[in-house]
Amino acid sequence: MLRGSATVKLIDIIAGARPNFMKIAPIIRALEARKAAGGLLRYRLVHTGQHYDARMSGNFFEQLEIPEPDVNLEVGSGTQAEQTAAIMTRYERLLMEARSDLCLVVGDVNSTMACAISARKLCVPVAHVEAGIRSGDWTMPEEINRVLTDAITNWFFTTSEEANQNLRRAGVGDERIFFVGNTMIDTLLVNLPRLRAPAFWDELQLQAGEYFVVTLHRPANVDECDGFARLLAAVASGTRGLPVVFPVHPRTAKSLRELGGVPESIRLVDAQPYLEFNWLVKHAKAVITDSGGITEETTVLGVPCLTLRESTERPETVTVGTNELVGSDPAAVGNALDRLFADKWKRGGIPDRWDGRAGERIVGELEQLLFQGRNVAAKLG
Ligand code: UD1
Repeated sequence: MLRGSATVKLIDIIAGARPNFMKIAPIIRALEARKAAGGLLRYRLVHTGQHYDARMSGNFFEQLEIPEPDVNLEVGSGTQAEQTAAIMTRYERLLMEARSDLCLVVGDVNSTMACAISARKLCVPVAHVEAGIRSGDWTMPEEINRVLTDAITNWFFTTSEEANQNLRRAGVGDERIFFVGNTMIDTLLVNLPRLRAPAFWDELQLQAGEYFVVTLHRPANVDECDGFARLLAAVASGTRGLPVVFPVHPRTAKSLRELGGVPESIRLVDAQPYLEFNWLVKHAKAVITDSGGITEETTVLGVPCLTLRESTERPETVTVGTNELVGSDPAAVGNALDRLFADKWKRGGIPDRWDGRAGERIVGELEQLLFQGRNVAAKLG
């Protein structure tokens, strides 16, 4: 039993888009464990509906054993502003009808920023998991979401020392920064024994270490047809005829329809569920991606990763891990693949505190903050 309060406290856990689901799963698990042990924190799971179909959302809830959301705001797709505004409006209405004691947001998607703003304006404190990371690339909506969310966050849960430094530079005091590790890696480690081959494994005659995985969905890489086609040609030629499995994100599917076709060795498959996707990654010769989260998973799995972006908000995947920023120039992609085939790729290590315990640490800190009188109404700055 906790000292200092006899009443329960309610946390809203916000999830909206695919990369959020792996981040909330371990926090929910830790909250359930504390509740079973007599803890007084309760949660309300709020799905904004930013991602809504089974491939992007439903499958992840099932496989990661996340309970059904208590509330679904059902915002669906739209422009950046339409989607953000719809989430803000609907979450504000929810808070006005049934207030919570804390709004916990994860990552950097539109749902993260929108809910943080609505909560903070109603004086509901905000905790941000994966706070403080910065790419410096202001053309990415995610960078804007990160900076704006962190500008109004009360408590910052971080994955790296770089993130801590970014926050300190922005004037955040150490008493509001909690270096807890990486919840995405909690999910990966707990699910390693459950990973399984996708149904097409035999059909495509895949063999461990003898194929590549590609994921691309950033507007800079996929929205412009000619550039996208050149990139795919560079990937196909650099991978020397080995199969290249490409699970297709919905926004990429639209561009692919316009392209008409892809090089023969590139095998287009649906966006994969979590357990199948990480099976593919774990056994791949290398991964070629423009995702941020995947570079963390390849780092922990020790799989070479080529990032087709000019910057990363996760520098430890490069300085410690197996990731390299290759950019989107087809010649650079070819050179990087040559080094991989020459067996000259770095081996990599595991960043500090990426040990599977971030969820527990977060819940431990939240209990301290909400029940032990560390000031809930903490002023900004
Ligand atoms: C969002 C996140 C990005 C994250 C990515 C992972 C923002 C700004 N971006 O980008 O950080 O890496 O998710 O997936 O929040 N769609 C479907 N089914 C769905 C969801 C989306 O078909 O379940 C379609 C939408 O109609 C839209 C496109 O996919 O045309 C893009 O979806 P959206 O959520 O707007 O952004 P993402 O590009 O997925």
